[in-house]
Amino acid sequence: MAQISSEVSLSEVSMDRLVSLCKRRGFIFQSSEIYGGLSSAWDYGPLGVELKNRIQRFWWREMTQLHDNIVGLDAAIMMHPRVWEASGHVENFTDPLVDCKQCKQRFRADQLEEKALAEHKCPECGGELTEPRLFNLMFKTHLGPVADNGSLVYLRPETAQGIYVNFKNVLQTGRVKIPFGIAQAGKAFRNEITTKNFIFRTCEFEQMEMQFFIHPSEDGKWFEHWKEARFEYYKKLGIREKKLRFHQHGPDELAHYAKIAFDIEYEFPFGWKELEGIHNRTNYDLKRHIEFSGKDLSYLDDGKKERFIPYVIETSAGLTRTVLTVLSDAYTEEEVGGEKRVVLKMHPLLAPVTVGVFPLVKKDGLAELARDIEANLRQDFSTFYDQGGAIGRRYRRQDEAGTPFCLTIDYQSKDDGTVTLRYRDSMEQVRVHRDDLTGAINKAVKEYKRES
Ligand code: GAP
Repeated sequence: MAQISSEVSLSEVSMDRLVSLCKRRGFIFQSSEIYGGLSSAWDYGPLGVELKNRIQRFWWREMTQLHDNIVGLDAAIMMHPRVWEASGHVENFTDPLVDCKQCKQRFRADQLEEKALAEHKCPECGGELTEPRLFNLMFKTHLGPVADNGSLVYLRPETAQGIYVNFKNVLQTGRVKIPFGIAQAGKAFRNEITTKNFIFRTCEFEQMEMQFFIHPSEDGKWFEHWKEARFEYYKKLGIREKKLRFHQHGPDELAHYAKIAFDIEYEFPFGWKELEGIHNRTNYDLKRHIEFSGKDLSYLDDGKKERFIPYVIETSAGLTRTVLTVLSDAYTEEEVGGEKRVVLKMHPLLAPVTVGVFPLVKKDGLAELARDIEANLRQDFSTFYDQGGAIGRRYRRQDEAGTPFCLTIDYQSKDDGTVTLRYRDSMEQVRVHRDDLTGAINKAVKEYKRES
């Protein structure tokens, strides 16, 4: 077995290496690249969309299927404009921005260094900065052919409001009782000043949110519950625990709706940054929707004969940001037998391709045999057949794609039905009979634990 003589993770090398791998292997492309690209917009290629969908399915299972008191929802992106007045986003969802009078670049005042802000000096060209002005992050558009105030709609900046406005619908139809949750994943839009950190902060992104409706007296208990549960989720997703931590929002960081908030942060190559927010939103949103819509969104506890407006504990994760987290965490460069190996050590459940299938050579019936084995495995796993180039190069290509298992079909396979099963992380190779492959792979997926 080949020896790994050195190993570095992404935090020790430049983020550019990940961006380049993502392009090379078809995970993520610059949007509209043939026109010179659109800044901070990205497209998910064949492997990227698989990874993103798998993360979303993992989250969905974890947040709905594994609970008998959480149901799903898929609300429209465009909602009645009054929703955003009620939610406070029209008034409060703003960033303080400053412009450079010389180079015309725009910056978030709260992200500038104190010195630059105090001296009104542009961090890029040294030109004079304007005074900070509040800028609303919501994208506006018009519904229908007439662009007047009556047709104004916003692209939702969070998926959560779709849940609040459907609270009554779900309550009346979903056979749910407090405490219960509504989960939703989907696109959200914010007209952000984006930094240069790949897909970390984009104007169009995806969220996976769950709003858990509770009795107001139980907010402390449920907040702690979800805070811990969400941290554990990232460990199950295969993210290394040493790269995760909590950050509690100080008074100046709290969103307008939050009483208490914790972020789960990940240590990206560009520093510790928010991955998910857990918020106690109290009954702020339901109360505001009661006020603005005139509808009764209170809850009646039949048993206790008590009517109240539920509190909400929200877990709000970024899907596209989790894609970056998984890729950053998985990226590893190793030296093996004097050569560099780039490998994505992601959890097998997330890997876009689960099994790579290679005939040692194309001739003597090995290609046909490999195709036959692949066709069988395709029923249970996502597979990729490759007969091009030296076997070592085929392994390296799948290592870069994060494929956890590769099979090589050789002459012995014709005689006794066994194939070589090669594990991505350890590069260990074992002989397995083709009839036992599904069981062996399923077992390895279930028992997977990252070594480093
Ligand atoms: N509903 C609450 C809410 O939206 P948030 O902290 O503003 O809370 C939650 O966002 C999560 O959504 C963040 O932790 C992050 O993962 C993701 N997110 C927010 N803005 C984003 C952006 N511009 N690009 C990518 N992901 C973003």
